[in-house]
Amino acid sequence: MTTGFEKLAQDGAARLGVIRTPRGEVRTPAFMPVGTAATVKAMLPESVRETGADILLGNTYHLMLRPGAERVARLGGLHKFMNWERPILTDSGGFQVMSLAGLRKLTEEGVTFKSHIDGSKHMLSPESSMEIQRLLGSDIVMCFDECPALPAEREAIARSMRLSMRWAERSRAAFGVRPGHMLFGIMQGGLERDLREESAEALKAIGFDGYAIGGLAVGEGQAAMFDCLDYAPGFLPEDKPRYLMGVGKPDDIVGAVKRGVDMMDCVLPSRSGRTGQVFTRRGVVNIKNARHADDPRPLDEACSCPACRSYSRAYLHHVFRAQEMISGMLLTWHNLHYFQEIMQGMRAAIAEGRFAAWEAMFHAQRAEGDI
Ligand code: GUN
Ligand code: ZN
Repeated sequence: MTTGFEKLAQDGAARLGVIRTPRGEVRTPAFMPVGTAATVKAMLPESVRETGADILLGNTYHLMLRPGAERVARLGGLHKFMNWERPILTDSGGFQVMSLAGLRKLTEEGVTFKSHIDGSKHMLSPESSMEIQRLLGSDIVMCFDECPALPAEREAIARSMRLSMRWAERSRAAFGVRPGHMLFGIMQGGLERDLREESAEALKAIGFDGYAIGGLAVGEGQAAMFDCLDYAPGFLPEDKPRYLMGVGKPDDIVGAVKRGVDMMDCVLPSRSGRTGQVFTRRGVVNIKNARHADDPRPLDEACSCPACRSYSRAYLHHVFRAQEMISGMLLTWHNLHYFQEIMQGMRAAIAEGRFAAWEAMFHAQRAEGDI
């Protein structure tokens, strides 16, 4: 069996494809639910699969700190540990160090930091990140990179991007040859077109199994992100998967796919499920709102998820207000189901050459607003 990406169809810039791995196929465009700490919070793995997910995202940073990569390896690897036998992509840790860890120190070698859990001191480098992702048994390994906080000076963005490109080369060398596993490079360069191109050229010269677009969705706003996505995917190879990291809201996802992105991940559907924010065809619903208290109708009459099939808005409102655990479970399930339904809708539309019509319908339904 060969591991890799095959593009099956294209409609405008939107692409339909499949990533084949020994642990199964990933249909693209793909949305990856986030299972940071070896769980998609509030969901059983079989339930995540029922929503239509082909692949999960795990985090080097969290798992190295707790329970530790060596321990996971001794226990048979991350798939067995968390009872998800399908593909897993792991992020490399640098981004999470910058957003979560205390007291960081960045050098050419890597980054030293203090754990957000117990304050203990740790180090991550391209080499150690590759080793941790190998111990976890990740199917798609991400290069170790640095993602600068925006806004930043152009020179700071350039320096950071060039460091990430040197780290990409070291990541490639440390990863070695591992049949059945893929290594993705990560493009940086902020919102600077020429830096994005320079980054893409550096990554292509090294050669990767897939290419991520990093450093977006960090506060620049959708318009600026789309401006960047109007050119950035075009700098990357046609025949390799393109992964937009950390995106996003439903309309961000649709806009990214329209511009040639194949994979995405975001905590939004799972995190929002625990805060009462529900994503539906008609936009965002806040289940906390008193208007749902007596409403016998489902969240979305057209949704086939367990929350919509068997429960009223009144019930979902009640269990949210009462802080019952089933609230996070049902709303997360619905949100993940809805995100996967968007992906399935786009895949079918691209296959049949009607992406523009699908997109128009997507926006028209949202414009109607919640019922
Ligand atoms: N998650 C969201 N953005 C990024 C990024 O730029 N790099 C990494 N490694 N992970 C991310
Ligand atoms: Zn539903």
